Amino acid sequence: MTAAPQDNLSALYPAHLAEIRKRSDDALAAAHRDHLVIASGRPHGWFLDDQDYPFKANPHFLHWLPLTDAPGSWIVYTPGARPKLVFLQPHDYWHVVPAAPAGYWVEHFDIVTIRTPEQARAHLPGDPGRCAIVGETNVALAGFVPDNPAALLNVLHYRRAFKTPYEITMMRVASKVGVHGHRAAEKAFRDGASEFDIHCEYLKATRLAEHQLPYGNIIALDQHGAVLHYMHLDRNPPAQARSFLIDAGGQFHGYASDITRTYASPDAGEFQALIDGVEKAQQGFCAKVRVGQSYPGLHLHAHHVLMDVLREQGFITCSAEAAVANGISGTFFPHGLGHLIGLQVHDVGGFARDERGGVIPKPDGHPYLRLTRTLEPGMVTTVEPGIYFIDTLLDALKTRPAAKDVVWPKVEAFRQYGGIRIEDDVLCTEGEPVNLTREAFAAA
Ligand code: GLY
Ligand code: MN
Repeated sequence: MTAAPQDNLSALYPAHLAEIRKRSDDALAAAHRDHLVIASGRPHGWFLDDQDYPFKANPHFLHWLPLTDAPGSWIVYTPGARPKLVFLQPHDYWHVVPAAPAGYWVEHFDIVTIRTPEQARAHLPGDPGRCAIVGETNVALAGFVPDNPAALLNVLHYRRAFKTPYEITMMRVASKVGVHGHRAAEKAFRDGASEFDIHCEYLKATRLAEHQLPYGNIIALDQHGAVLHYMHLDRNPPAQARSFLIDAGGQFHGYASDITRTYASPDAGEFQALIDGVEKAQQGFCAKVRVGQSYPGLHLHAHHVLMDVLREQGFITCSAEAAVANGISGTFFPHGLGHLIGLQVHDVGGFARDERGGVIPKPDGHPYLRLTRTLEPGMVTTVEPGIYFIDTLLDALKTRPAAKDVVWPKVEAFRQYGGIRIEDDVLCTEGEPVNLTREAFAAA
């Protein structure tokens, strides 16, 4: 698919590896252990069946290596020594076996190939008590059981927020992959396709199989846009779709992009005006992804700006301040402004105050915010404001005193469009923010 910037990755990988080693040294010291042992993972089986769910590698493993499809493998790292990869390549004529390690990272590892999962034990440190073993319980080998020490994970998770230039390169590719899909999906919507067929066009354009997506595609026509995580995929198109909300990402070497766009049909001009208002607001929020910006502060700012949009467009009669205070804003914008993104679409460490397990709480009344940290260079966050017309939330608002500040006929007229969300992935730098999503759309 998209040309991988292999030369670039090759040049950037040594510094990335040095950074991961440094983080691991510090994390091991915090946990008072001598060796870091990371399991790639093992597939999970279906209940009472002989089939497995698609394999999803341990993100700690992927932080070291771009091996998204190597179940049963292990990384062993001892400070001061070369890292070792214990690589499972089974003799198996039922399945495709992982290809022999190749590429820019191989020269940095000692690699041992094993043929059965159990053979790994002989290549792991002798005393599990001296190891920090990171992985799921189903990888356990005799006497070697993941313990995921909190003191170690606190350091690694806090620092995962800071992406290396190597990681940013991967995320740029993931953004391009997602944008290919978004372009194809928009065209399919304009051509009158069903949600299911739009989804298929998305997969085709990204060259990703469904299990390789960073999260399940949200492909929502009309009112379905009001279901925040709508994943139903209707097989039949409406006679004439009026609106389209697509929240779908790309993936490259385990790194995610998370992109949302909302479109109106040409005869839904009133809805297009609201999309334009949200888009303008969203671009203002992206511009604030700068060093020292509190993310909860940005989230609360977004509530005010979005309520200004609703007031200007005739949905509410009170001030933005009043709409935030009386709960109207939470009815129309009921989720967080964004989250960290990287190896996981909702990346770890969003609430970390420090490397010792401290937590920055969410602001009162904002239970769905996933990022409470202050922005620093290297962080990549999504910025995804929305305005929705959600029946259950509107019904609840109707019973409250704040209902008098809502122009209900206008709100009623917009229920048919479902909702709007516009989402970009933005890198905080020492200077101007870098919008990975807009960059990819501009290049597509
Ligand atoms: N893209 C889905 C979400 O962020 O929840
Ligand atoms: Mn998101």
